[in-house]
Amino acid sequence: MADNNKIIAAVLASGSGSNAENILRHVQTHGGRVEIPLVICNKPEAPIIARAESLSVPCRVIERTGTKKEQETAIIAALDEYHVEWIFLAGFMAILSPDFVAAYDGRIINIHPSLLPQFPGKDGYGDAFRANVPVSGVTLHYVDAGLDTGPIIAQKTFPRLEADTLETFRARGMQLEYELYREFIDILVQRAAA
Ligand code: GAR
Repeated sequence: MADNNKIIAAVLASGSGSNAENILRHVQTHGGRVEIPLVICNKPEAPIIARAESLSVPCRVIERTGTKKEQETAIIAALDEYHVEWIFLAGFMAILSPDFVAAYDGRIINIHPSLLPQFPGKDGYGDAFRANVPVSGVTLHYVDAGLDTGPIIAQKTFPRLEADTLETFRARGMQLEYELYREFIDILVQRAAA
């Protein structure tokens, strides 16, 4: 019998994939009826590919070779193949089109390395560090058609320490990114169990 309460998600990532790995590990150990059967990556050399494979999760590489529309059509076809309804962006460095966002309305989640609405864009830690903010943070939010403008789900803050370099500053933030995604997954697990 079909399990209608199951929540099936995919992770979309472009780079190192440490958030993706954190998400996959958490779902594999504490996921309940939340499942992640697929990772999609848009960069053929990205370390996330090997990370996903080491956790036995298939990683489909879907590069942008033509138009954004063609790439997104291929992404949707892969998502449909695995019956995916939720999307967790984890360092996915591409802007999704309004049509794509509308197709998964309210079910695309993104982690961003700043306290939005401060420092949107692709270098949140660098921008916050260079701006010398005394406190920075990370944001988990729903994706809408804007750039890092969707409704905020949760934020965590961390202080900038006097001895911080950009690397130590980023490393502290990354730990909070992992926590935010794990906590969100825990909420979905409860929802799927209800
Ligand atoms: C993370 O810091 C994530 O918040 C950021 O990319 C990094 C990916 O690291 N995302 C963005 O800046 C999105 N605008 P990872 O590949 O090790 O998870």
